[in-house]
Amino acid sequence: MNFQMKTWEDYQDAYQKSIEDPENFWAEIAQEFKWIKPWKKLLEWDFNDLQVSWFKGGKLNITENCLDRHVEHKPEQPAIIWEPNDPNEDVQVLTYKVLHDRVCRFANVLKMNGVEKGDRVCIYMPMIPELAIAVLACARIGAIHSVVFGGFSAQSISDRINDSACKVVITTDGAHRGAKLIPMKDTVDDALMNCPSVKKVIVSTRTRTPISMIKGRDVWWEEEIKKVTNECPPEVMDAEDPLFILYTSGSTGKPKGVVHTIGGYMVYTAYTFLNVFQYHPGDIYFCTADIGWITGHSYIIYGPLACGATTMMFEGIPTYPDAGRFWDIIEKHRVNTFYTAPTAIRSLMGFGDEYYKDKDLSSLRILGSVGEPINEEAWHWYHQEIGKGNCPITDTWWQTETGGIMIAPLPNITKTKPSFATLPLPGIQPILVDDQGNEIDGNGVNGNLCIKFPWPGMIRTTWGDHERCKKTYFSAYKGLYFTGDGCQRDEDGFYRITGRVDDVINVSGHRIGTAEVENAINMHTGVVESAVVGYPHDIKGQGIYAYVILEKSDHDAELTKRDILMTVSRIIGPIAKPDEIQFVSGLPKTRSGKIMRRILRKVACNELDTLGDTSTLLNPEIVDELIAGKK
Ligand code: PRX
Repeated sequence: MNFQMKTWEDYQDAYQKSIEDPENFWAEIAQEFKWIKPWKKLLEWDFNDLQVSWFKGGKLNITENCLDRHVEHKPEQPAIIWEPNDPNEDVQVLTYKVLHDRVCRFANVLKMNGVEKGDRVCIYMPMIPELAIAVLACARIGAIHSVVFGGFSAQSISDRINDSACKVVITTDGAHRGAKLIPMKDTVDDALMNCPSVKKVIVSTRTRTPISMIKGRDVWWEEEIKKVTNECPPEVMDAEDPLFILYTSGSTGKPKGVVHTIGGYMVYTAYTFLNVFQYHPGDIYFCTADIGWITGHSYIIYGPLACGATTMMFEGIPTYPDAGRFWDIIEKHRVNTFYTAPTAIRSLMGFGDEYYKDKDLSSLRILGSVGEPINEEAWHWYHQEIGKGNCPITDTWWQTETGGIMIAPLPNITKTKPSFATLPLPGIQPILVDDQGNEIDGNGVNGNLCIKFPWPGMIRTTWGDHERCKKTYFSAYKGLYFTGDGCQRDEDGFYRITGRVDDVINVSGHRIGTAEVENAINMHTGVVESAVVGYPHDIKGQGIYAYVILEKSDHDAELTKRDILMTVSRIIGPIAKPDEIQFVSGLPKTRSGKIMRRILRKVACNELDTLGDTSTLLNPEIVDELIAGKK
């Protein structure tokens, strides 16, 4: 790939060109890929009416770019190295040739089971090679994958399946997660009680735990692949055909299905992967994310494979068998680039140096961070203790909706600064605005972070509801994409993300909408009303704080709290369980009946000095109760 920036001058030139002549800038990058038919119009856009298309008229298949192109000249190079949950189990190395064959074979299985171009396929699997194979097999035949993170509940799965009317579900019998055995198929069975669109379930064997297999609906992966060949020509796709749907939480309502399209997403994830990780042929790259999130889509599968890289997949968790597992993996596989989340760093810091001091981490060259603001203490620990002061940290800011990394330092090129994502990548035009939407010029300022020009990897729509996409992202500030994040631009023009400015909480790098958690709590018997806010949490970044009003006060508080946690787990999944529940007799409301979240946040965060004026509340006396009842 001929688009790697190598020096500060390269970055400055690329950035300049991307602003002055975006069409030629992206055309030169896109030409590096295999197109079945060239595009006719590079870019058309309108942020007011939300119409964006990149590489219009171009025909391609992303798997041809991620697989066939590399099989031609380096069939034996590892594409995916899979590290199992149990360190004593065998590692699997899938070369480009092997991955290609397995993807084609499974693509034929999908076809045999009735999947056609444009159909939606839900994938609910642990981090095993079959997950990557399933994703790529969908892309091979032009089916749209919707991966649902393995920690979500049956209810969340069925909501997502029904929203996009998935025809097929791909899952496993069970999953290994640390010492735990997770029942994947049971959860899918529960989900499917209410999913009329699903005709087939394909089950890959991982734990060989007993599961139900329904005649006519459920089939075994291992049986099906014996019935087909490994010849599957890539389906000819339009650059703007959807590649996948990924559900993400916002400040209101149910999660939205973010839609990414093939051509732009491919070009953008490959460009950003190669540059942000300064990937060189032969490097071993390890991203610890789960493929159930956007980081796994873009920077375990598509970006690295489009660049012909070697990407690792890890099935387990950072603390199993002990808190040195990441460092063991780095030593064992001689990992060069390591990309993880601040929450993992903070958690591993707490275990002390005995887990890494005797490990050989000398293969590391570059460290990455993603998903939430990285605090200075964690940044320095990561830099000194893991990188031994030699590895630049690339703090990458981006979102499910942006498809790929937007603001990040280029290792060994951009100056780094703890807790700063630093500078926008070429093609990205950030702008800070005040609450009225006026641009905040100059440096040394704070504002709401927006993007004013399209980029190839951006969201195109939300599945089944284009208006919602327009309203959520393109109507807060006219003509701009609004990120939902607050941001500082310092004296040097470096960007630092300060956190969400909407009702979204970032818990351990996972986005959780407060409204969703409230809806789940409100489904618990005896709950009258609830309000959920975020508060600072040492490990998770933010924790979930729930204020709950119950019908009756004569309950066993501890037991009721545990029951509420179970309800939230059932409705959304364990990741949305509140860290704190406080029972209250009322919530602070304005005279028009609106909950004053600002006050709830201040109390949860212990910022009582800045509570502000509470006298205009409908029920000012409640504030004292909230403060007194807080532990
Ligand atoms: O608030 C920002 C935070 O994570 C949000 C996006 O979450 P999600 O769509 O789940 O994608 C996470 C992985 C890309 C953003 O709106 N965020 C992400 N990266 C950073 C960050 N906050 C600060 N610094 C980051 N590097």
